[in-house]
Amino acid sequence: MPRRRITLRQLETFSTVAHLGSFTRAAEALHLTQPAVSIQIRQLADTVGLPLFDQAGRSLRLTAAGEALRATTRQLDDVWNSFESTIDALRGLKRGKLRVALVTTAKYFLPRMLGAFCRRYPDITIELEIANRDRIVERLRNNEDDLYVMSYPPEDMDIVVHPFLDNELVVLAPQDHWAAGRKVSLADLADESFLLRESGSGSRRAIDDFARQAGISLKVRLALASNEALLELAGTGMGLAVLSRHALGDRLAVEGLVVVDVEGFPLHRPWNLVHLRNKILPVPAQAFLEEMRRSSAGRAHPDTEDGAATLR
Ligand code: PGA
Repeated sequence: MPRRRITLRQLETFSTVAHLGSFTRAAEALHLTQPAVSIQIRQLADTVGLPLFDQAGRSLRLTAAGEALRATTRQLDDVWNSFESTIDALRGLKRGKLRVALVTTAKYFLPRMLGAFCRRYPDITIELEIANRDRIVERLRNNEDDLYVMSYPPEDMDIVVHPFLDNELVVLAPQDHWAAGRKVSLADLADESFLLRESGSGSRRAIDDFARQAGISLKVRLALASNEALLELAGTGMGLAVLSRHALGDRLAVEGLVVVDVEGFPLHRPWNLVHLRNKILPVPAQAFLEEMRRSSAGRAHPDTEDGAATLR
């Protein structure tokens, strides 16, 4: 392949088209005309020797060669980011971009930790992505960010996992529920309706795993992708919710809820910072990781919502 013919500009255009799934939208985003975008993609495909996109009806799909090129451009991007941050570090500057993707439930504490980091390094810009566990794992697989925060790291990927904080999942019921104030087992609650997170969520997986191991099938009345909505619905008496303590904040009393003392609960899962083993971490990501690892050296973390979780 005549590699010298490939330009950074063509690769940027290619990544934008792949990301937006449209030549027209990529042209808008890049402030180019659509024919200019098409020409660059055609030239790139000619050099590669295979088509990069398939037109499937109205939507544009990457071909196998396109997928391989997208993975490669992400790696090139990593190398280049790392080069830029090395140069900044040589100039005595901590600057650049830190890209972190978190599972929904981590949004209650991680932004604050990032905030403290940002105050120390005002020239570092942060890009945050928040989604449920399945979506975050997909981003990790595609190498879309630097660091990932989740409770359940995938088992089929070559990754490095740094546990840094405890995650506790609790069962919530209205204050006047018969189980409030008693010690019960999950089997005692088998006839109750449950309000749980959607499948694909790490919180959901924790409760499903526990129930399966206990040989109990829970009656799931409603599955929802929002911790806040689950809290509110549990407050109406529609069912029992199982949520991370981090999601509770000061809402327990407001919603008229209590934590039920269920055998085996709270379920404990560590929160982990995760990255691909072969990821070239830019200096900001290295600095953040280092800071989180230092602060997790066994002391309680004052920033958590309930003040009870301890850093590992
Ligand atoms: P969730 O993730 O917000 O998708 O439930 C929490 C977790 O990974 O434990």
